Amino acid sequence: MITMPRLFPALLISLFATIQVYSQHPIFPGAQLCTEADIWPPGPGHAFIPQAPDAELTQILREIDPKRIKATIEKLVSFGTRSTLSNQTDPVRGIGAARDWIASEMRSYAARSNGRMTVTVPSYVQGPAPRVPNDTVISNVVATLRGSKEPNRAYVISGHYDTRVTDVLNFVDDAPGANDDASGVAVSMELARVMASRSPAATIMFAAVAGEEQGLLGSNFLATELKKAGVDVQGMLNNDIVGSSTGDDGTHAPFDIRMYAQGIPTTENATQIATRISIGGENDSPARQLGRFMAEVAQNPATNMSVHLMYRPDRYLRGGDHLSFLQQGFPAVRFTEPHENFAHQHQDIRVENGVQFGDLIEFVDFDFIARVARVNGAGLWSLAQAPGTPKGVTIDTRTLTNNSTLGWTMDADVDGGYEIVWRATDEPFWSHVIPVGHTNTATVQLSKDNVHFGVRAVGRNGFRSPATFPFPG
Ligand SMILES: *[C@@H]1O[C@H](CO)[C@@H](O)[C@H](O)[C@H]1NC(C)=O
Ligand SMILES: *[C@@H]1O[C@H](CO)[C@@H](O)[C@H](O)[C@H]1NC(C)=O
Ligand SMILES: *[C@@H]1O[C@H](CO)[C@@H](O)[C@H](O)[C@H]1NC(C)=O
Ligand SMILES: *[C@@H]1O[C@H](CO)[C@@H](O)[C@H](O)[C@H]1NC(C)=O
Ligand SMILES: *[C@@H]1O[C@H](CO)[C@@H](O)[C@H](O)[C@H]1NC(C)=O
Ligand SMILES: *[C@@H]1O[C@H](CO)[C@@H](O)[C@H](O)[C@H]1NC(C)=O
Ligand SMILES: [Zn+2]
Repeated sequence: MITMPRLFPALLISLFATIQVYSQHPIFPGAQLCTEADIWPPGPGHAFIPQAPDAELTQILREIDPKRIKATIEKLVSFGTRSTLSNQTDPVRGIGAARDWIASEMRSYAARSNGRMTVTVPSYVQGPAPRVPNDTVISNVVATLRGSKEPNRAYVISGHYDTRVTDVLNFVDDAPGANDDASGVAVSMELARVMASRSPAATIMFAAVAGEEQGLLGSNFLATELKKAGVDVQGMLNNDIVGSSTGDDGTHAPFDIRMYAQGIPTTENATQIATRISIGGENDSPARQLGRFMAEVAQNPATNMSVHLMYRPDRYLRGGDHLSFLQQGFPAVRFTEPHENFAHQHQDIRVENGVQFGDLIEFVDFDFIARVARVNGAGLWSLAQAPGTPKGVTIDTRTLTNNSTLGWTMDADVDGGYEIVWRATDEPFWSHVIPVGHTNTATVQLSKDNVHFGVRAVGRNGFRSPATFPFPG
């Protein structure tokens, strides 16, 4: 058991708070995680300083190339329609040709991976469903970059390669889907390309899924199979409609991206939800911790982006492939552009009253997509190089005390010890860090009534995991 003395951290606070406040890049409002003066109560630990990309990650982000992203989207658009109901054997037009091209591209990246990356096309036959009139093969393309240290711990990045027009059952007309969601597929593919030659500690899966418009079919298949196989998916990043930063009204936000993260998990039962509500944990689900982590590691000069964490699973009336992962109990978030233009989504290509409708490539901004890819790349690489998110994290609530005792399961793969993070209950991001070393319990001289605690794992390489919120135990 480690007791945190009060004087020593107080010194650290004044030191680190100064560094932290002045070292924040002024253009990243989301990264201003705290200023000491705003925080009540005061307490132990040093200010939370966002993890900056190391040399290898900086180089990875530099290699992300808007020209490659453009070429990928041009090629995907060239298949005419990628409706899930379209032809699967025609070599030129339809979803089958798109599937085969994505797989062959991914294999060309894998060829440079020294055997670490393998490409599979897992498929199943979907029987008739509300948006699927006849039996239809649903195929995902998945490039798996095997982790060198912990291959069973995995992170998934995904976009959907199927498209639609106004009528979701129309598989004949052109449905270019340049933004929805060739943009997200291009992010998965570009990251697969630049990461293939590298060796992350945990596994990264770069996916392009089908059947999204038909009811999240491909992602549901992928998430279900991963769950069945016992893969420890500790994070899923969905990129869907990340192609443009210009909205209907002309609003332009080329350095902003929205990230949607669910609150209370849909997989928790009534007892778990009752506990979560009773301790004020509704803003501390695993998806929110993943969101906080992404905001922490992806807002810096290497991405030049502000990441806006949205406290909801998705936009009104909309959904996406992250929901399939959330449904299996995996933390997942969705990236989507800051301002949408609904005339360019799910629309027949046409001109009406001088307005061009349709998801055309002319409305897509490749430099913006490259920046979104950097946000994702910073997150994925930081996740895969850090130790896993702590498990079995509890807070002792057996008696009334003015201190707080946390416990967790010690993991042999954690080589840099643990840290307790905390924030005032009305702060959005962790603001304080208390290093506690190689232990499975620690007591903090700070009342749990006034703050939220989390536990994160530290790698000797400097990478930190997302935090886990403790439940009474
Ligand atoms: C799909 O395309 C192939 C090759 O062009 C053609 O032979 C086949 O009839 C098409 N299938 C359907 C269901 O249209
Ligand atoms: C479903 O099958 C019917 C009967 O074979 C056919 O007319 C229809 O075009 C098919 N629909 C799709 C989406 O393939
Ligand atoms: C709720 O889930 C927890 C954790 O999985 C389990 O221990 C408990 O039995 C469940 N309770 C009910 C009522 O299903
Ligand atoms: C970085 O983002 C800012 C807006 O936050 C923008 O003004 C600047 O031009 C960007 N720099 C580069 C190199 O893109
Ligand atoms: C925590 O508080 C309880 C009750 O006030 C006290 O008995 C215990 O010694 C404290 N633990 C530490 C490590 O300060
Ligand atoms: C906690 O309570 C004990 C008495 O139970 C007291 O001695 C101590 O100063 C209190 N600590 C804090 C941080 O308020
Ligand atoms: Zn979409």
